Amino acid sequence: MSMTIQDAGQVREGFPRPFTNTATNVFEQLSMTGKVVAITGAADGIGLAVVEAISEAGGNVALLYNSNKAAIERSQELAKKHNVKTQAYQVDVSESVQVEETVKKVVQDFGRIDVFVANAGMAISKPILEQTLPEYEQQMSVNVNGIVYCAKYAGELFKRQGFGNLIITSSISGHIVNVPVDQPVYNGSKAYVTHFGKSLAREWREFARVNIVSPGFFDTKMGASPLCINEAYRMSPMGRQGHVKEIKGLYLYLSSDASSYMTGSDVLIDGGYVLP
Ligand SMILES: NC(=O)c1ccc[n+]([C@@H]2O[C@H](COP(=O)([O-])OP(=O)(O)OC[C@H]3O[C@@H](n4cnc5c(N)ncnc54)[C@H](OP(=O)(O)O)[C@@H]3O)[C@@H](O)[C@H]2O)c1
Repeated sequence: MSMTIQDAGQVREGFPRPFTNTATNVFEQLSMTGKVVAITGAADGIGLAVVEAISEAGGNVALLYNSNKAAIERSQELAKKHNVKTQAYQVDVSESVQVEETVKKVVQDFGRIDVFVANAGMAISKPILEQTLPEYEQQMSVNVNGIVYCAKYAGELFKRQGFGNLIITSSISGHIVNVPVDQPVYNGSKAYVTHFGKSLAREWREFARVNIVSPGFFDTKMGASPLCINEAYRMSPMGRQGHVKEIKGLYLYLSSDASSYMTGSDVLIDGGYVLP
């Protein structure tokens, strides 16, 4: 039986909880000075834009890359330019042991992780009837297993630390069925991580926040392919893809104290793509 008005009127011990003692000035809230942020898929695209945003805001950054060694050079450039600590780490997020070891290494080098941005992803965009099972498994191993491994090992650390913040890069493809290219496995993988992230926001309520970013088409290697680019322009009221500089502010907001009352949210940033 659901709660009565009398039941709901009972004051629970420890509630309401106190407000956080974060700054009231919004620019101070957005400062990342002294914070440590780990980002997967950090060598290029959305991940690199997040790395730039955090380092520009004074934060220290662990750049996690898989095959793109440009992360090493970007890491050195940004450390010099913004006078912050950075370090690049090679990790295949589909390998749980590598993820566990990398989280440990980042903590050895930086002392803690305040924010973990689980951003790495991949797509083999085909109808299921044309997709091989190894192609299905590869997408699931990165987009689902990779996010679960990052969340598990970052989450264990957050619990030990007593604080933490996980941000998952999902997609509008977790909300809508994209046209004109059928890609049910990619879409399903993103729907999984969106709901998984919301579920973690409750599970980790005592020590960490969890939010999801669902981008529409952004002009990166994983942006609109030639098969869907015209449809991407038509579907977005803005008539274009996003530039990665246009997503920096959202990740900075979610990483920083400015979003201290935000958890379990799934934020669309898609130039209005999913409106119609
Ligand atoms: N661009 C878009 O239109 C769009 C829209 C919605 C969602 N997204 C999502 O945004 C995220 C970033 O994509 P992006 O657009 O920035 O494209 P991107 O530049 O191609 O980034 C994808 C990243 O994922 C990393 N990655 C792939 N497999 C990996 C593995 N096994 N282990 C570790 N890292 C791995 C890649 O690392 P290496 O290059 O080092 O191998 C790469 O940096 C993805 O999750 C994607 O699904 C993108």
